[in-house]
Amino acid sequence: MCGIIGYTGQRPAGQIILDGLRRLEYRGYDSAGIALFDANHELYVARAAGKIDNLISKIEGSLPPAVSGIGHTRWATHGAATDLNAHPHLDPAGRVAVVHNGIIENFEALRRPFVERGLAFSSDTDTEVLAFLIADEIQAGVDLARAVQNVVAQTQGAAAVVAICCDEPGRIVAARVGNAGGIVIGHGDGERFVASDLAALLPHTRRVTFLEPGEVADIRPDEVTYYDTAGHVLAKPVETQPWDPVAAVKGRYKHFMLKEIHEQPDTALDSVRGRYLTAPHRVEVEDLPFTAEQVRDFNRVVLIGMGTSMHAAMVGRHYLERYARLPAEVDNAAEFRYRSPVLDPRTLVISVAQSGETIDTLAAMDEARRAGCPQITICNTPGAQTTRIADATVYMRAGPEIAVASTKTLVGSMIALHALGLHLGRLRGALDAETSRRQVEGALHLPAAIGETLLLEPRVAELAARYAAYEDFLFLGRGLSYPMALEGALKLKEVSYIHAEGYAAGEMKHGPIALIDERMPTVAIALRDEVRDKMRSNIEQVKARRGRVIAIVSADDVSLDGIADDVLRLPEVEPDLSPVLTAVVMQLLSYEIAVERGADVDQPRNLAKTVTVE
Ligand code: F6R
Repeated sequence: MCGIIGYTGQRPAGQIILDGLRRLEYRGYDSAGIALFDANHELYVARAAGKIDNLISKIEGSLPPAVSGIGHTRWATHGAATDLNAHPHLDPAGRVAVVHNGIIENFEALRRPFVERGLAFSSDTDTEVLAFLIADEIQAGVDLARAVQNVVAQTQGAAAVVAICCDEPGRIVAARVGNAGGIVIGHGDGERFVASDLAALLPHTRRVTFLEPGEVADIRPDEVTYYDTAGHVLAKPVETQPWDPVAAVKGRYKHFMLKEIHEQPDTALDSVRGRYLTAPHRVEVEDLPFTAEQVRDFNRVVLIGMGTSMHAAMVGRHYLERYARLPAEVDNAAEFRYRSPVLDPRTLVISVAQSGETIDTLAAMDEARRAGCPQITICNTPGAQTTRIADATVYMRAGPEIAVASTKTLVGSMIALHALGLHLGRLRGALDAETSRRQVEGALHLPAAIGETLLLEPRVAELAARYAAYEDFLFLGRGLSYPMALEGALKLKEVSYIHAEGYAAGEMKHGPIALIDERMPTVAIALRDEVRDKMRSNIEQVKARRGRVIAIVSADDVSLDGIADDVLRLPEVEPDLSPVLTAVVMQLLSYEIAVERGADVDQPRNLAKTVTVE
């Protein structure tokens, strides 16, 4: 939530920052703002509520020549989405500018002394007081880096803070407090960047350094100095990131979401590459630090995540139970951490988070770390905070995902969990050769099967045109398809603002059936598996109450033709991997319905890509 970008070097800072903001807009789009040093070392500040285009029209060619500055896209927490609440925020003399991601919980207490001094705040944000505090420190002769450090030390909550000051144009100070809000420094030739995430830096450099909670970076064009919480200088490595900058542009697609849906054959290919091996058929997950003996000693696994990542974890539970014979449970990370969960060093904790920065997931991981649990995280973002807490990371290998709604990272995480289940199953001696063969072959066929599923797009678009006017939907599934029913409902809500409920089909008779009439269509996942006949009964029950049904069925299954109103046939796939194809068809359905309704698909209202507030 909230995107931050800063630049210092010799090139036109204004344009670099505006371009960076465009790449970060998916993190928040309630407002955008920029602060630059002009030729006289005065601060030029422009801010506008709404999307970046509003800021750009406001600036209208008035961008001063500048070689350093900072910018921000906001996802509002304190104060409405207005020009005045847009970042950057300034001190009363207009000499210090600050952008911030996260929440300052004690901002009211921090504001009080200034109000008592008769100073007025111009915004309702928790951020503005940071500029006041930093300016006070500088006034008292404190150096900018130390001033930022002193100020963040007074804050409660978690945040990323970036500040500049007129006294030293060309210098930017960034601080990371707690788990909210990553900060990554980009290293160029005689220039440096700072951003809330990698995507904004990729066009300029892949040489980066991530800040850990508590660390401060003092950034100048030719060097960066890092400090720990105690103010000691730290040596931090420069890492080279593998991501391809071209992957973060929309290309010929109308929306990032559609582009990312279409990238899923590649996601699957990258996810199976080097992991699913033949002759003999086996699965090897890279870089797991646990010995076979340790793996045999695990007595339970707890999977955690939020939103779509939790749905991936729910599918993963089946894989860990089936292949590794580990008792597995899944929890929403935000609930898990407040439940006093029973954990011990034999409980394997697996977290799923595409961003690797979701605050609830990080807090749950911290809880697991305190209990001494071994931890594996499934993540898409190199160097993200989850990857630094966990003992091992299994990457989703999806490349940058820009649309706010997760698509290809879901596919990447389900394949990563499938591989992990098989890998742990082999080490635990729980996996037979036939299962291994079937699953390896099934996974290797996935890229082609996803490609075939995408051919359903015109048919889905035709359904979307007929169903887009409904205001309520029910999604039903059983077994491995239950998490995909939840996912189908979530995706539809997110991108088209239609009310949708996802249910385990067996639960339907225990309440949701009361909702069904001709105004509430049901999407029923009825693949050919051990629960197909039960799904068929559920569909009959919906039909008996005049509900319309879209059935998602297996390749050559005609048994629901004439019963369901519409049928979408998935290509042949190994049944354990069917959620991957179901996910793709659900994504197409929600995308096409959203387009039909004219919704802002890539940037749905109120949402943000990385959720760094609780
Ligand atoms: C849904 C979606 C969200 C995220 C959730 C967790 O399309 O994108 O539900 O899945 O916010 O995010 P991560 O995976 O970054 O922890």
